[in-house]
Amino acid sequence: MRIQKITAAQVLDSRGTPTVSATVWLTDGASGTANAPSGASTGKFEAVEKRDGDKKRYFGKGVEKAVRGITEEIAPALCALRHVTVGEVDRMLIELDGTANKERLGANATLAVSLAAAKALAAHYRQPLFRFLGGESARRMPVPMMNILNGGAHAANNLDVQEFMIVPVGAGSFSEAVRIGAEIYHALGLLLRRKGLSAGVGDEGGFAPDLPGDEAALECLLEAVREAGYGEDAVKLALDGAASEWAAPDGTYRLPKSGRSCTPGQLSAHWEKLAASYPILSLEDPLGEEDLPHWAALTAQIGKKVMLVGDDLFVTNTARIREGAARGAANAVLIKPNQIGTLTETLDAVALAGKHGYRAVLSHRSGETEDAAVADIAVAVNAPYVKFGAPCRGERTAKYNRLLHIALENGLDGNYGV
Ligand code: PGA
Ligand code: ZN
Repeated sequence: MRIQKITAAQVLDSRGTPTVSATVWLTDGASGTANAPSGASTGKFEAVEKRDGDKKRYFGKGVEKAVRGITEEIAPALCALRHVTVGEVDRMLIELDGTANKERLGANATLAVSLAAAKALAAHYRQPLFRFLGGESARRMPVPMMNILNGGAHAANNLDVQEFMIVPVGAGSFSEAVRIGAEIYHALGLLLRRKGLSAGVGDEGGFAPDLPGDEAALECLLEAVREAGYGEDAVKLALDGAASEWAAPDGTYRLPKSGRSCTPGQLSAHWEKLAASYPILSLEDPLGEEDLPHWAALTAQIGKKVMLVGDDLFVTNTARIREGAARGAANAVLIKPNQIGTLTETLDAVALAGKHGYRAVLSHRSGETEDAAVADIAVAVNAPYVKFGAPCRGERTAKYNRLLHIALENGLDGNYGV
């Protein structure tokens, strides 16, 4: 079986910013379409997103060059492959690009093609994507981390922490987890309105009010959990500091919204205090992407009771995961396919994380589309957690809804819990 043609287009993401869409057509008529997502608080070590830079079109954010790279360079090379597999497609994409960070063709181009090829192959074998990728052992529904209060680079409010999430660990099934999450989300909206606070939402669908600080935000979350009728055994909290955004050149941290400055030691002490005072299950990027020594120290301090998730720290990159694990930094890995640029390398990162005993959290980006491939990937690898934003906004619910379909159509709804 061969690839007959590949088409590509510049489409829009959930922020109204251009992104790459690719469709792979096989000779038997099967096809698959995929879109690249895009981050706002991107890590320094991520694979590169190719943008046109023409200020007169889309403020320089067009992706027409990346699209042309697909039709003019990637398509002819992939159409020449004698036997199409996900591994062969990705090997060719990596070889064609030829750089360590996909900067020549762009990870937005390579990922769209990589995922589109996987979807086309799944269609060829008449299997859902999660089954095609994961085989019969793909049987577990992930626990969702739902970002219901947005701050940082994802909202125009005064909160420096980027994400305040609820984690319905005590649900009896995946569909119940979605219900609990949605009920708490609505309870939070009502509570904010009652307090006279803004109930407008940020980039990931969470509310984005001005609040006095992290503790006040966590109190709001707990109040919403209680008002929805749940307890701290059923619903835990999680934070993403996205602290790489705060790292100053001198090794200290400068929180842009509050204007506060602190040393790595003071920041670590702040997280320790929060983890001791609130039912916090997981802390993502509590420190910067280049601050391995303090990551390791914080992991030694609280890593036994809190999941410490490396996002910008690891950027879904096996070399960085290997180094971090050797240094004892973090105990979980955020997995974002577009940070590395192909499906195969994404799956390699999950496998390596598992080898080091690091849990995987499969994640969307703040700039998303209706593409839900990341939900299938999560089930394919039996990921314990996913992070797809609030249970609100179509590009977020596309992923939760896809998981609901997988759960209910395959008898997997009850295979829930870590
Ligand atoms: P991003 O945010 O997609 O804007 O990078 C998500 C995250 O930091 O987890
Ligand atoms: Zn993050």
